[in-house]
Amino acid sequence: MLSTLTPAPLDPILSLTVAFREDQRANKMDLGIGVYKDEHGATPVMAAVKASQEQVFATQETKAYVGLVGREGFNRFMIDLVLGDSAAKERAVGLQTPGASGALRMLADLIRRATPSAKVWISNPSYVNHQPVMESAGLVVEKYDYFDPETKQVNEAAMLASLEHASAGDVVLLHGCCHNPTGADISFDAWQQLTEMALQRGFVPFVDIAYQGFGDGLEQDAAGLRYMAERVPEMLIATSCSKNFGLYRERTGAAIIVGKTLDNARLGLGRLLQLARSTYTMPPDHGAAIVETILADDQLKAQWLSELNVMQQRLRSLREGLVNAFHARDCFDFDFIAQHKGMFSHTGLTVEQIDALRDEHGIYMVGDGRINIAGLQEERLAELVDAILQVIQKA
Ligand SMILES: Cc1ncc(COP(=O)(O)O)c(C=O)c1O
Repeated sequence: MLSTLTPAPLDPILSLTVAFREDQRANKMDLGIGVYKDEHGATPVMAAVKASQEQVFATQETKAYVGLVGREGFNRFMIDLVLGDSAAKERAVGLQTPGASGALRMLADLIRRATPSAKVWISNPSYVNHQPVMESAGLVVEKYDYFDPETKQVNEAAMLASLEHASAGDVVLLHGCCHNPTGADISFDAWQQLTEMALQRGFVPFVDIAYQGFGDGLEQDAAGLRYMAERVPEMLIATSCSKNFGLYRERTGAAIIVGKTLDNARLGLGRLLQLARSTYTMPPDHGAAIVETILADDQLKAQWLSELNVMQQRLRSLREGLVNAFHARDCFDFDFIAQHKGMFSHTGLTVEQIDALRDEHGIYMVGDGRINIAGLQEERLAELVDAILQVIQKA
């Protein structure tokens, strides 16, 4: 059986990590894979997570199955975190999933079941796994215009124009904040216009919010999503605790459905449970237990918020530091980096320049020109800028 298979293509981001690990140069720099790193280049367990983990360890009495829906308490907290005090909460239900990836897949399966002919519109470019996940569920993917390579910002007019082609029943996948891979987010005004379009054209918004708290703050990052959720009849949301709780390997996330009514949302949840049953059955518990314990405890929650704030501030200050380092070399072409949000920025560097950065300087970034801002270190910003300017001048 297996000999009938051809080798699977290498994952470009994961193979970059292997190449980085094998690189023996002491001054190498990893701006590739999307995990948060602190000033020491580490991805530590957050203190609030450690404290919560101890509580879970001390009090957990069973490892029996958690049930198809996962932890009800966790699901409620996820809905609160994402929807805040928006009225949409009254008609929202949640399913604990193995990361946002699990939520994306379960919701994709749900779309396929509810509207088999639905097209899913994703941004050009989008998170590297969006298209494969949607297509694995049997859905057809279309792309809407998004990133403007000239301004390095979102071309909102072009985005809205391409979504004029979305039909009633189609699904439009949006990034809640901190767009991956570009770092360029849509304005609140665009959220308002998209809401109007969804109402008029009858498409269903599907929001992937994997970096809440990494952009402008926990509440600000969800403002567009909340505005939309309050006004559209139906919305799908995939959310993650990988980044803002640093729980990457615990596979912790949620699928949220906002329905026309609570009963309507529950109809969707019933199908999600059935889909989960035939996929992985029950979600892993540990990460969700940690998050639920943090969010149920005022002190732990305050500690988590302050740690999240440190991460957000570090990303901001690295963005400003990098732009200033370019200014110090009289280069004003990278100012857009300070306007981007979250962990990533699309630099616009060419494949040749990216290859030269890796081969000649030991600087690793994804082939599409995305850099992970969290991979930067304050004291090495000038070194990075010099390397970038060298490869640009050479070209
Ligand atoms: C936009 C986006 N969505 C979803 C995910 C998947 O997150 P998780 O680790 O929770 O599965 C990622 C991870 O990088 C992401 O960037």
